[in-house]
Amino acid sequence: MRQSTSYIMVLWSVIVASIMGFILTEEMPHPFPMSLCNGVNIEDATVKELQHLMSIGQLSSQDLVECYIKRINQTNEFLRSVSEVNPDALSIASALDQERNERGIRGPFHGIPFLVKDNIYTDDKHNTSEGGLVLLGGRYSSEATLVTKLRAAGGVLLGHAALSEAADHRALTNFSDGYSTRVGQTRNPFNLTQATSGSSGGSAVAVRSNQAAIAIGTETHGSLVHPSANLGLYTIKTTPGLVSRHGVVPGSYYHDTPGPMARSMTDVAIVLDIIASPDHRDNLTFNALGKIPLEGYAAALGTSHALRGMRLGLPWNPYWSTAGNINAPGLREQYESRLQELKAAGVELYNITNNPYLHQIANPYGFGQPAHTPEEYNQLISYKTLLAVALGEWLQNWTFPETDERHGMSTLAEMASWNDEHNATTGALGNGTWWYNTESGQDFYDIAIATNGSLNGTFWKAFGWGRRIARQAIDFGHTHAFENGTVIELDALLLPNNPNGGFDNGCASVPSYAGYPVASVPIGQSKWGMPIGFCIHGREYSEAKLIKVASALENLFRWNAVPQWHNYKTAEGPWDAPWPGYACSQESLDSYACERS
Ligand SMILES: *[C@@H]1O[C@H](CO)[C@@H](O)[C@H](O)[C@H]1NC(C)=O
Ligand SMILES: *[C@@H]1O[C@H](CO)[C@@H](O)[C@H](O)[C@H]1NC(C)=O
Ligand SMILES: *[C@@H]1O[C@H](CO)[C@@H](O)[C@H](O)[C@H]1NC(C)=O
Ligand SMILES: *[C@@H]1O[C@H](CO)[C@@H](O)[C@H](O)[C@H]1NC(C)=O
Ligand SMILES: *[C@@H]1O[C@H](CO)[C@@H](O)[C@H](O)[C@H]1NC(C)=O
Ligand SMILES: *[C@@H]1O[C@H](CO)[C@@H](O)[C@H](O)[C@H]1NC(C)=O
Ligand SMILES: *[C@@H]1O[C@H](CO)[C@@H](O)[C@H](O)[C@H]1NC(C)=O
Ligand SMILES: *[C@@H]1O[C@H](CO)[C@@H](O)[C@H](O)[C@H]1NC(C)=O
Ligand SMILES: *[C@@H]1O[C@H](CO)[C@@H](O)[C@H](O)[C@H]1NC(C)=O
Ligand SMILES: *[C@@H]1O[C@H](CO)[C@@H](O)[C@H](O)[C@H]1NC(C)=O
Ligand SMILES: *[C@@H]1O[C@H](CO)[C@@H](O)[C@H](O)[C@H]1NC(C)=O
Ligand SMILES: *[C@@H]1O[C@H](CO)[C@@H](O)[C@H](O)[C@H]1NC(C)=O
Repeated sequence: MRQSTSYIMVLWSVIVASIMGFILTEEMPHPFPMSLCNGVNIEDATVKELQHLMSIGQLSSQDLVECYIKRINQTNEFLRSVSEVNPDALSIASALDQERNERGIRGPFHGIPFLVKDNIYTDDKHNTSEGGLVLLGGRYSSEATLVTKLRAAGGVLLGHAALSEAADHRALTNFSDGYSTRVGQTRNPFNLTQATSGSSGGSAVAVRSNQAAIAIGTETHGSLVHPSANLGLYTIKTTPGLVSRHGVVPGSYYHDTPGPMARSMTDVAIVLDIIASPDHRDNLTFNALGKIPLEGYAAALGTSHALRGMRLGLPWNPYWSTAGNINAPGLREQYESRLQELKAAGVELYNITNNPYLHQIANPYGFGQPAHTPEEYNQLISYKTLLAVALGEWLQNWTFPETDERHGMSTLAEMASWNDEHNATTGALGNGTWWYNTESGQDFYDIAIATNGSLNGTFWKAFGWGRRIARQAIDFGHTHAFENGTVIELDALLLPNNPNGGFDNGCASVPSYAGYPVASVPIGQSKWGMPIGFCIHGREYSEAKLIKVASALENLFRWNAVPQWHNYKTAEGPWDAPWPGYACSQESLDSYACERS
């Protein structure tokens, strides 16, 4: 009886679905279907596909802006991934539609709505606040260069995406990734009780849940590559200075880098071609002179044919042995079957087991440094000192109205005091578990303030050591010596990228210390439905090669998944829950990982 009922139900749903013109996939239905946009299905559409729909007259840029705002209205209450919608988005889109009709398009980004993370300043009617209250209401001297460039390329600034407050630079311990005082807790549409990963989680969630087709995030230490993996997206964290950081609330001059978070490597390349360029207002961009390929990054996109003869290194220890949460149930098998697919497609994989530099600079979890690192080489010395310097410089050009009590605020110490006085600390979110703040909520600010922003000998020793050893580790990984003495150069390094379930992973730390690029490609889902990926490490300014490798992998795997919105009704709960069978303790977190319980 039950069998025949369910058979009829299945048959009925097939008929209904066919009548309505939906393509049945293996995905389960979920509670937040996206409506058609002026009769067209734009769910999971890429920038390239949207451009095509506009070029054949099926949709206008105004349609897209309206549909994405509608989608934000439908979902943001649950996801809290968009912090503000640009009040001018519709009128900008309308002008660009008119321009398209009269004079044609400016390029592949014409009429495309995009979001930027809320630490990227836009000179318009909406606020840029870095997720906190302390900067809210202030204005910067000029717009972020990357925003101006995307506007000039025909992009429609749709709004700001939420972020972990202060891009994860306010607190080091006892805070929830994805939480900001202004917006609350951003949540993951695959499973709302699982993490988004910081700090560009809002940008990643927005793209994955179709609140926009593309967003710009930023990374100092993991904030593009972790959330991209956690939401099943493509990204590239470029060599710092390839993309101007002017107008982006800084964390560190030597480590910060903005980048696209997208549904395809093609979209990543389209945006990188617009935003990668020297800028006299960010002197680090001068290092990139002559390093940007004349033909652009989109020219580097490869098909899966590019895999034949491609040489990829597997840095076995620690990334494939202990790090990257590789030993969580069911993951190793999935990663290994992907490696077999790569081999079958003609990739030469080289197992690099002993990298003499890597064990000096990466701990067994891959994220952060080993416990045996001498204190004088602790990379936190670099980050905390550079944070104090950077925010001091930022405040020089961030102004509040004269009537505002923050008028003239010029140091990080004053920002922290303002937060204390206004109880604007990362609030207790829930239930007294380890990620909730119990103290000031700004222990990162506190240790940064204590440095006085002094770029003294102690700083240069730690920073210089980290940069040198991390570069040596990645450079060494790019070579393979055969027994007969022949040494070959590899194209890139392949690592598991799986920051889910209360774990961090190895994709970010060493490239952050080195100032080297990383790309990330989604490849599947864990046993608990959370996306996982590969990250690809390259050498300085090897972005074109990383795009070639990443897009070739994309074309082989062609992975995509519709979020299932598990636990969306859970109003409270553990937002960064460890996977079933694992537990996080303060001790294990000191090593940035949770353990089997
Ligand atoms: C989105 O919600 C706002 C506020 O409720 C409303 O004013 C606006 O009309 C909505 N926009 C769309 C496109 O649904
Ligand atoms: C900017 O922030 C102010 C202060 O919170 C708020 O009143 C205003 O609505 C915000 N602007 C937009 C466009 O949301
Ligand atoms: C973090 O929270 C735990 C548990 O409440 C507490 O024992 C610990 O002291 C806190 N650490 C900091 C740095 O606030
Ligand atoms: C480059 O810019 C940084 C940050 O704005 C500044 O601290 C530094 O002095 C500048 N360096 C040079 C050589 O101009
Ligand atoms: C790589 O080498 C390590 C030990 O050196 C070994 O345990 C592992 O299975 C090897 N992996 C592959 C894919 O060959
Ligand atoms: C800060 O503002 C001053 C005055 O407007 C301007 O000359 C300077 O270029 C600005 N600095 C930056 C880094 O934008
Ligand atoms: C901050 O919290 C304290 C203690 O709960 C309270 O006395 C004070 O009024 C609050 N200050 C503000 C500005 O809300
Ligand atoms: C440099 O500054 C740090 C504080 O950030 C201090 O602990 C250290 O002693 C100073 N080093 C030198 C050589 O002055
Ligand atoms: C920071 O500056 C204060 C005040 O000038 C001074 O007392 C303190 O020793 C300095 N700290 C360091 C680490 O340089
Ligand atoms: C060394 O061995 C590698 C791998 O077997 C081979 O490709 C290469 O040609 C050899 N080199 C020489 C000089 O024999
Ligand atoms: C969602 O995450 C929670 C918390 O980690 C977990 O207990 C639950 O099993 C997950 N749901 C699904 C359907 O995987
Ligand atoms: C908070 O924790 C208590 C005790 O562990 C539990 O009974 C309660 O249901 C939890 N509340 C929420 C909202 O998770």
